[in-house]
Amino acid sequence: MKAIIGGTGFDRMEGLSLSQRVVRTRYGEVELYLGEGADEGLIFLPRHGSGHSVAPHMIDHRSNIQALADYHVTETVAIYAVGSVTNRLRPGEVGIVGDYVDFTGRVHTFFDEGTVKHARVDECFSPLLRDRARQARADLVDNLVYVTTNGPRLETKAEIAFFARQGFDVVGMTLGGEATLLAEKEIPHLGLVYSINWAAGVGEGSIAFISDERIEDMKGEITQLCRAILSI
Ligand code: HPA
Repeated sequence: MKAIIGGTGFDRMEGLSLSQRVVRTRYGEVELYLGEGADEGLIFLPRHGSGHSVAPHMIDHRSNIQALADYHVTETVAIYAVGSVTNRLRPGEVGIVGDYVDFTGRVHTFFDEGTVKHARVDECFSPLLRDRARQARADLVDNLVYVTTNGPRLETKAEIAFFARQGFDVVGMTLGGEATLLAEKEIPHLGLVYSINWAAGVGEGSIAFISDERIEDMKGEITQLCRAILSI
């Protein structure tokens, strides 16, 4: 099985044959979409729920990732809307995450009972999926550093200036937990980011989001990219 995890802007995937399912995991229930016909073998998981009703700090990442593990998912492309902290990835551009920092303070682990285990996350993104993404689109900005904030508020200018000084490129509220849990389950993961705004104090100074029309175009582009990466 292959999975696409969608976030802000990607609560639905257009152009795929999917049917909704609510599945029960040992941690909680998860709403996901199973591919049918030509799209059989694909799972689409909207991390905020299909109506975008779950705030980033309230997402039950553990149930979500457990559901993918229960379906024996072996390849995951996860899409994250981000703010641009530096001009390595500018609003309207798509890139690949190479590393992450998690400043949320949330605990994300499957290893909190029984044997003590420490997952490695120093090379947690799949080189194979990354190569396929690079082959599909040579213009993708690569090796971005994603800093995860708790949200749901956006950041202060001082926070973003601090992140820029540390060498972080993009900011969002969800990748840290997901990447950690996927690593614990040893499920190969590609993080695709698309920037929808300059973060606080960057660019024109005040937070400016790209237009809804531009977001729609980017959704089309990214859907095509996911198809190429996962051969669907
Ligand atoms: N900050 C945090 N998360 C985000 C942003 C941002 O500016 N844009 C999209 N997700």
